[in-house]
Amino acid sequence: MSEPPVTLAREDTPSGEVALRRRDGVLELVVDGAFAMDTVDTSTEVLLATEALRRHRAPARVLVGGLGLGFTTRAVLEDPRVRHVDVVELAEPLVRWARGGVVDELAGLEGPCCALHVADVADVLRGSGPPNGPWDVVLLDVDNGPDFLVHAGNAALYEADSLARAREVLAPGGLLVVWSSHRAPRLLAALQEVAGPGEAAREVVLPVHRDGRDLDYALYSFARAPAAGGG
Ligand SMILES: C[S@@+](CC[C@H](N)C(=O)[O-])C[C@H]1O[C@@H](n2cnc3c(N)ncnc32)[C@H](O)[C@@H]1O
Repeated sequence: MSEPPVTLAREDTPSGEVALRRRDGVLELVVDGAFAMDTVDTSTEVLLATEALRRHRAPARVLVGGLGLGFTTRAVLEDPRVRHVDVVELAEPLVRWARGGVVDELAGLEGPCCALHVADVADVLRGSGPPNGPWDVVLLDVDNGPDFLVHAGNAALYEADSLARAREVLAPGGLLVVWSSHRAPRLLAALQEVAGPGEAAREVVLPVHRDGRDLDYALYSFARAPAAGGG
């Protein structure tokens, strides 16, 4: 029989409850009063980082949108080519708990190579607040996908206007990758819409077995053309 969950940290914010709970060894994150993620299977959060980094020749600067439980960020930090990671997280209590080491999963992320910022990643992508780009790789995992939002205000992030702004914060040859817990053909079309000459949007489907079901998670990406004469 499953044990009752233990609440490790919780706070009410204007947009809803933020909480960390552990049940049967599984850590769960609640944001805006809704389930955001748990640690049952974090392989695709890690793949978001490793797949993007694999496709870039020299990913020195990386932006991660959505701290969550830190799995994507930790995978980025394991790549010795990465010099600096900016992590942008909307839920201030979560950043505070990460800094305070409330749970092992989030402890010790911040340091000389990694800065945690409390901000809306949409503002960062439009250049209206710090941290400032350009970045070689931008990773977005702020919802369960464009059709399953954790934060209702994020809907515009997946529209062509926002994606075009995200393209502007990429260094030449830079890569934007979006994680989704479902196939998202409209997102792929929007990425294709903002692609410049010689640039292509891509979908990678990630089959996942969860709660007795076979699911298709996916990564959506877009690579900005390299500078003329560059690689
Ligand atoms: C599913 S979790 C990210 C999981 C993360 N990839 C990991 O490896 O643990 C989504 C995170 O994005 C944050 N978030 C949601 N909307 C955001 C926004 N507009 N700007 C920044 N962070 C946001 C949530 O508070 C939550 O911490």
